[in-house]
Amino acid sequence: MRAGRASAVVEFDHVWHVYPGGSQALVDVSLSIREGEVVALVGPNGSGKTTLLKHINGLLKPTRGTVKVAGLDTRRASVGRLSRHVGLVFQSPRSQLFARTALEEAAFGPRNFRIPDPLGAAARALRAMGLEGYEGRSPLSLSGGEQKRLSIAASTSWGPRIIAMDEPTVGQDLRNKMRLLGAIRLWSRAGIATILASHDVEFLWLLGPRAIVMSQGRVLADGPAREVLSDEALMARAALRPPQLAELGKLLRAPRAIGSVWEAVAALAREAPERGSGT
Ligand SMILES: Nc1ncnc2c1ncn2[C@@H]1O[C@H](COP(=O)(O)OP(=O)(O)OP(=O)(O)O)[C@@H](O)[C@H]1O
Ligand SMILES: [Mg+2]
Repeated sequence: MRAGRASAVVEFDHVWHVYPGGSQALVDVSLSIREGEVVALVGPNGSGKTTLLKHINGLLKPTRGTVKVAGLDTRRASVGRLSRHVGLVFQSPRSQLFARTALEEAAFGPRNFRIPDPLGAAARALRAMGLEGYEGRSPLSLSGGEQKRLSIAASTSWGPRIIAMDEPTVGQDLRNKMRLLGAIRLWSRAGIATILASHDVEFLWLLGPRAIVMSQGRVLADGPAREVLSDEALMARAALRPPQLAELGKLLRAPRAIGSVWEAVAALAREAPERGSGT
């Protein structure tokens, strides 16, 4: 889905958040996210990413400013009403899992929101996260990476319009990162907006989302990942380094962003054609 024509599903208008202890976690944040858009939040520890995500399903309310989700002002709508629209995957999955089995865990949302065939929806969500065969397992008996994927399945099984994920690739092997990447692309095509907080710049480079850089509760930059993540000075302010393919592209003076190792090989061949001639 093309972001330009789609309507806004998340709107932050001059949002500030101050925790009871006095720490100022969001400072004048304004942004708008459209149907089908994929948005990454990057920034150092403590820069406000989790705080921002928790505003999307109304777990936290703005101290100042307004957050609107699916047209609802989060200060007026109940968390129950908002969560029909928003699946939120927590940074630590254990705090989210409570059911007796993985299937029951993923069926909770579909039952709660009266989706037809809740067990079928739950089984499909488990399958999308590579958890077929785990239906009867106790969530607490799963490995860390499996628990994270179960919490993604359980937060997406009823078909929310917005999926907010906190560090979804932590603990995932390459195969499961690629599975997640495929799932995000499918959601996007179905008009579902995904917002993820992540330090995993290599993953984000492949995903190619819109990237928002946060520092000390403020939005420092907002643009295509290929531009934002390859900006060395900006990444340093986010306590990150550009992805390796971005650095390689710069070294090779590639005319456009290098998206894969194979594109890097092609760029290298252009840079040094004599190497390919066998002389
Ligand atoms: N419950 C809380 N009470 C008081 N202060 C908090 C609370 N949660 C977070 N903070 C503070 O708010 C700021 C933003 O925290 P937040 O968790 O949003 O950061 P983050 O960008 O998600 O960091 P990380 O990369 O470590 O997950 C930090 O200074 C943090 O110490
Ligand atoms: Mg966080």
